[in-house]
Amino acid sequence: MENIILAEGVGRSFKAGDSDFWALKDVTLGIPRGKLTILRGRSGSGKTTLMNILGALDRPTEGRVEVDGVDITSASEPARDALRRKKIGFIFQSVALVSMMTAFENVEFGMRIAGVPASERRKRAEECLHLVGLGSRMNHMPQEMSGGEQQRVAIARAIAHRPAVLFADEPTAELDTGTAFAVMKTFRELIEAEGVTLVMTTHDVSLVELADCVYELSDGKLVTGEEVEAE
Ligand SMILES: Nc1ncnc2c1ncn2[C@@H]1O[C@H](COP(=O)(O)OP(=O)(O)OP(=O)(O)O)[C@@H](O)[C@H]1O
Ligand SMILES: [Mg+2]
Repeated sequence: MENIILAEGVGRSFKAGDSDFWALKDVTLGIPRGKLTILRGRSGSGKTTLMNILGALDRPTEGRVEVDGVDITSASEPARDALRRKKIGFIFQSVALVSMMTAFENVEFGMRIAGVPASERRKRAEECLHLVGLGSRMNHMPQEMSGGEQQRVAIARAIAHRPAVLFADEPTAELDTGTAFAVMKTFRELIEAEGVTLVMTTHDVSLVELADCVYELSDGKLVTGEEVEAE
């Protein structure tokens, strides 16, 4: 399996008083292209820290990270910014939709920030909302939608600029089981339809079996890296 992201010996320390606290220690892993990878582990095990480093939001203290063949560890801040805008999408745990905008406008606005030409934005926003099953909710305001629907708008917004990699930090944490599975199904369909690579974190063991690849962290260290064959 080809890896779109490679992490080699990644460590991340934070200042804690006079000493350093290592949130990640010597993490080496590959994220397979066009697959669903889950990062799991207890609260505080380093999942968000690792995801932020893989997605070029944060820099490691040690080690290196390659995204699509480019070493992002040594890259300049403008180069990392360009990479994030073009190749990466993020979905955070608490949905942050703009409450004064409809579903359509939320998705379209994200593309405006990403610099997508106006002519393309309308078509792509509609396409993405259809992809996440919200074709009939485009003109709804966030408060008129359920938690799962709002999360799907956030997914549509995150994929609108056609990122190669989509990072989702606990995207199902605030959803009930049925809705969480619906969001996972949406992720699967996106992988099929758009070939996107998905990396998500979760505490929920029942979701782990839906992944193609699972990495577990414990106290900042990788415990297992097992690859589950997709059916
Ligand atoms: N900016 C920071 N400064 C200091 N310590 C930090 C910082 N960010 C994270 N940490 C510490 O690093 C460790 C890992 O944090 P991280 O947020 O990656 O955990 P997590 O696995 O995502 O947990 P959760 O499941 O609760 O989201 C924690 O002990 C946390 O307190
Ligand atoms: Mg976290």
